[in-house]
Amino acid sequence: MDRVERESLVRDRVAGRRAAEVRLPSVTDQTDTFARPVARIEPWGTEDLPLLMKLNDPQMTEHVGGPETPEKVVERQSRYEEEDSRQYKIVVEDGGKGIGWVGYWERTWHERPVLEIGWAVLPSFQGRGIAGSATAQLLDKAREDQQLRFVHAFPRIDNGPSNAICRKLGFTLVEEIDFPARQRGFVRCNDWRFDL
Ligand SMILES: CC(C)(COP(=O)(O)OP(=O)(O)OC[C@H]1O[C@@H](n2cnc3c(N)ncnc32)[C@H](O)[C@@H]1OP(=O)(O)O)[C@@H](O)C(=O)NCCC(=O)NCCS
Repeated sequence: MDRVERESLVRDRVAGRRAAEVRLPSVTDQTDTFARPVARIEPWGTEDLPLLMKLNDPQMTEHVGGPETPEKVVERQSRYEEEDSRQYKIVVEDGGKGIGWVGYWERTWHERPVLEIGWAVLPSFQGRGIAGSATAQLLDKAREDQQLRFVHAFPRIDNGPSNAICRKLGFTLVEEIDFPARQRGFVRCNDWRFDL
């Protein structure tokens, strides 16, 4: 390795980027479970406010601090429907009705920029591998974006399905943390990290 290559590698490491020549297999293709997806993801659309309202019920939001006000949901919808928002609805057939959400965004974590990912699936569609499949597809998109190297998920420690998704998709459990709650205070969460 010559000096220029070495300096470029050091620059990438400092920026948290993976060396350009390292190509990893797609997350979707890594297991048989996701070889034939049970769900697809499509960019969040202008017509998807009713889905966001449904996902905002007390049962669905129990692990993230409870429902938001309708005004907050409308505000969220306007962010989600922007082009390149990186927010997706989950559908079980192409162009079909939305039955869930997955998305990622940037946040500062331990003084570094990282991506954070989240997911939700309507109760009548849960337990069929849909959130796992959709999240695998989203991780592949995040990898294509080549923005930042690490994706974090912060499920509450007692959120069985979300912790199971992180485990089965190959996230690494970093530690338990007190994470700022939506409304106020803190909740005990796991910090899971996926290396894109
Ligand atoms: C979390 C959520 C999206 C999961 O959706 P889903 O489509 O049912 O998830 P999947 O079927 O892909 O995977 C769930 C996994 O959890 C496992 N699981 C389910 N209940 C569990 C429990 N109580 N304890 C441990 N694992 C559990 C399932 O066995 C499955 O793993 P497997 O595929 O290896 O068998 C859904 O429960 C939800 O929308 N919850 C409310 C919103 C929420 O909490 N979002 C996350 C905030 S961090």
